[in-house]
Amino acid sequence: MKAFTMAAVLAATVALPSVGMATDLEVTHWWTSGGEAAAVAEFAKAFDATGNHWVDGAIAGSGDVARPIIISRIMGGNPMGATQLNPGKDADDLIAAGLMQDITDLATAEDWAHILRPASQLESCTKDGKVYCVPVNLHSAQWMWTNRKVFTDLGMEPPKDINELIADAPALEKAGIQPLSLAQGWPVGLMVNDILVAQAGVDNFVKVYKDRDLTIAGGPEFAKIFETLASIRQYTPADKMVPQWNEAVGLVIQGKAAANIMGDWAGGEFQVAKMVAGTDYDCLPGLGVTPVLNTGGDVFYFPKSADPAITKAQLELAHTLVTKEVQVAFNLKKGSLPMRADVDLSAANDCMKKGLEILDHSSAVFPNDIQMIDRDSLNQINDLFTEFMANPDMAAADAQAKFVAIIEAAPK
Ligand code: GAL
Repeated sequence: MKAFTMAAVLAATVALPSVGMATDLEVTHWWTSGGEAAAVAEFAKAFDATGNHWVDGAIAGSGDVARPIIISRIMGGNPMGATQLNPGKDADDLIAAGLMQDITDLATAEDWAHILRPASQLESCTKDGKVYCVPVNLHSAQWMWTNRKVFTDLGMEPPKDINELIADAPALEKAGIQPLSLAQGWPVGLMVNDILVAQAGVDNFVKVYKDRDLTIAGGPEFAKIFETLASIRQYTPADKMVPQWNEAVGLVIQGKAAANIMGDWAGGEFQVAKMVAGTDYDCLPGLGVTPVLNTGGDVFYFPKSADPAITKAQLELAHTLVTKEVQVAFNLKKGSLPMRADVDLSAANDCMKKGLEILDHSSAVFPNDIQMIDRDSLNQINDLFTEFMANPDMAAADAQAKFVAIIEAAPK
């Protein structure tokens, strides 16, 4: 954005005495793994270069832990300067309560509607025509990660998809390798949903989550998938589940597990470990079955502040996060796709290239779960899938019936 445009937005938005002064801005997020920390450091560096100061408010333990803390701080009158959330319904109540800064003027001045893609991400930030957050990346959840050396050392071909991995599982186990690593909590939900998408197809998945199609959710196709999951769970027993997603990815990096199913942010961990995509490891979108991606990601919101210096710094941060250089530096380390197409991606690795190619085919792009269904229902689904994957005695039909009941009860 041209300097005068930014200045115009600032002049129109904040009282002048604060203009030109450096401000400390506390920014909360849940980026604490190796890859995540490397990526967020790029944001902090760029914001500090504006003369302000990024006060890092990292919350350990990923989104499930951080989200309630972030939301209750804002609700409770102790807001941070800016915060990460996912694009979707998480901030709806905060916006309705009038607690979030409207950044429409900046978004309009910088033409985000045309510069940022796909449109779904800015749409998720927009309520009643007003923009309340800035999207910083596109993350997709449908990836399988495999360590090539694990397979070649055993004289096996690295699997091309989840079905080949399942076929390889007995041989891997015999060799003392965990076929599929898994972390507790939301990663179980992510894995199950990825398998549903891979086996039942995007259309059916969206019909269930978005349109709440109970006939499909309770029908024979989904029943088959719950049976498949019941056969996978022998390879991911409860006592082998690790607490955090990045530990499960770490087992693949260390060669103790052959594969993990996780979002593209796992790519950041492989990069920190100096492993090369397509040589040392493979990233298989759509679990290698059909290349698809969903429009997950991260956005930053700016709780309202009575201090004009904070408001000014918030706008400067929002502006900085979508500049070309910052988009490239951050997303290369994060494993996500940049929000803008007009950037230099010559340094993109194999995984980012695969993601960008899918993004060009809009029929393979579908909404993130929190863009389709509320967080409470998602948590119930995660709990159900966790119980099912951890308890070999739970029948596939029981799990499916409970799944249908949650979908049916979810608010529209
Ligand atoms: C997601 C977030 C990603 C990633 C992941 C694990 O919610 O969008 O950026 O870091 O959590 O922490």
